[in-house]
Amino acid sequence: MAEAKTLLRLVACGSVDDGKSTLIGRLLYDLGTIPDDTLAALEADSRTHGTRGGELDFALLVDGLMAEREQGITIDVAYRYFATEKRKFIVADGPGHTQYTRNMATAASNADVAILLIDARKGVLTQTRRHAFIASLMGVDQVILAITKMDLIGYDKAAYDGIVADFIEVAGALDIPRLAAIPVSGVSGDNIATHGASTPWYDGPTLIELLESAEPREAHRADQPLRMAVQSVVRPNLDFRGFAGRLSAGSVKPGDAIRILPSARTAKVARIVTADGDLPEAIAGQSVTLTLDHEVDCSRGDIIVAADAPSEIADQFQASIIWMSDSPLFPGRRYTMKIGAAQANATITEIRHGFDIDTFQHTPVKQLEPNGIGVCNVSLDRDIPFDAFEQNRETGGFILIDQDTNETAGAGLIHFALRRSQNVHWQALEIDRNAHAAIKNQKPAILWFTGLSGAGKSTLANLVEKRLHSLGRHTVLLDGDNVRHGLNRDLGFTPADRVENIRRVAEVAKLMADAGLIVLVAFISPFRAERELARSLAREGEFFEVFVDVPLAVAEGRDVKGLYKKARAGQLKNFTGIDSPYEAPLSPEIRIDAAATSAADAAEAIVAAISAKIVR
Ligand code: ADX
Repeated sequence: MAEAKTLLRLVACGSVDDGKSTLIGRLLYDLGTIPDDTLAALEADSRTHGTRGGELDFALLVDGLMAEREQGITIDVAYRYFATEKRKFIVADGPGHTQYTRNMATAASNADVAILLIDARKGVLTQTRRHAFIASLMGVDQVILAITKMDLIGYDKAAYDGIVADFIEVAGALDIPRLAAIPVSGVSGDNIATHGASTPWYDGPTLIELLESAEPREAHRADQPLRMAVQSVVRPNLDFRGFAGRLSAGSVKPGDAIRILPSARTAKVARIVTADGDLPEAIAGQSVTLTLDHEVDCSRGDIIVAADAPSEIADQFQASIIWMSDSPLFPGRRYTMKIGAAQANATITEIRHGFDIDTFQHTPVKQLEPNGIGVCNVSLDRDIPFDAFEQNRETGGFILIDQDTNETAGAGLIHFALRRSQNVHWQALEIDRNAHAAIKNQKPAILWFTGLSGAGKSTLANLVEKRLHSLGRHTVLLDGDNVRHGLNRDLGFTPADRVENIRRVAEVAKLMADAGLIVLVAFISPFRAERELARSLAREGEFFEVFVDVPLAVAEGRDVKGLYKKARAGQLKNFTGIDSPYEAPLSPEIRIDAAATSAADAAEAIVAAISAKIVR
């Protein structure tokens, strides 16, 4: 395979000031950079040779998905191109600061080889360990340890050997099957394109030789079972129906038996259509349109796989997640998961552990901070087909999107499916919500009161409930202060605990609405995301967000429980409005100006607003 001038994807990483720019500069200087106007040719070429085509190359799993979304956080990675007689290279260069874990992860997610730079004067640093860890996490199994600035330590062999030995100890804890080390100097060019006279003790290959002999990951992908995520259904006329996508693994020929996941329907491939005519075979990396021998349901987001070697299907996984958003990942919060062209609602049900980046030890964590990495259990609202990330980066890699801001918040790598829900089926209930509500002669509803502590949520919810009760309605009131004594007694007031607090209450509210009740919920519920979750669990038109709106000063002035005073005195941490945020509703069904309206009037207004909606 390597005879054609194959493309090798590199990621250059290491700490700040480790000599990366000089080294990359030297590579480009020694070899000659590829001018921009030949990039298109390079792309076209790589497409023919079965590497990634379409967008500008080195669009990786994360990057590619982000590009497709055309938004999300800024990924600060520069790509540079160069070539030797034997090979073309793309090197991804991300800044080395700690906060740029996401850049490093993005750059590594599709790299064949990581060049990990270590300043000879400084040796193995935390950042070196972090980058080695991320490279190994992202499945980069070839690492070239480049000990740079050798000129500045007088090409001292003992120092070099010491650093390599240090790193080998680090690497022992990681999965890096192929590790090479090389002493270099970006300034003098030693051991980059040619052997340096200053390191007679080094008789290994030059950096270029190492790079030329490295193996692209793609090399073996064509030998794996077929995987093609369907990007679009092509139907120019009634006689033609094709499924367009890019093979991420395997190969396909007309006549091959395929399976469409998740439906598991089978068919045979009729034609492999491209803009340049039909192909007798397509291999991993190529973008094609497949037609099938008969009509089968297949849409964007499905995967076409080898009929006899399909992907797995599951709705719960264990996965490693690299968190990129500035607001932490909270278990219980709902995110949109994008995997290939498919998407689902995802909740982290448990963070099994984080990592101490210095020791690679597992550490207990309750949430993932920006740039944090954790192994998590993930639960989806539907089945999706997948492979382990180690098998296939495209069918095993995903991103998580913040549903409130719509930013790309994290990247994940699936390890394996969790089978815990497999034998738990939905029980079809004969007395359904409609029957429950009918006997009560009402329509269920959820009245969700949100607002600062002291805004008057409980008072108001009480009045509304009394009023509804007197009208013969069947109600239930869930109040934060009360529920926190029972169901949620294990939860405090950290953001993570509040997410879980509201998640549970949202589920309970849904169950009670299913029991035919009019449910009143009075919780601060400070985060939009969880209120939206509660809304999404309710039936259309049954959810009423009641924003009990008061200026902080008014709530604080009342201070019925003396909690604001304590919070101001620093005796109560994480107090909403003081040192914990309150995200006001953007378009509540009902807004009460609680500073200007009496509770009785407000209750009356709420009952009036919903009364027509709760009668059958
Ligand atoms: S929520 O934020 O998770 O929705 P919840 O409504 O259950 O809060 O509980 C709020 C009540 O807990 C407040 O009315 C107050 O009496 C009490 N409380 C105790 N500590 C805090 C705190 N740090 N922040 C807000 N409320 C607190």
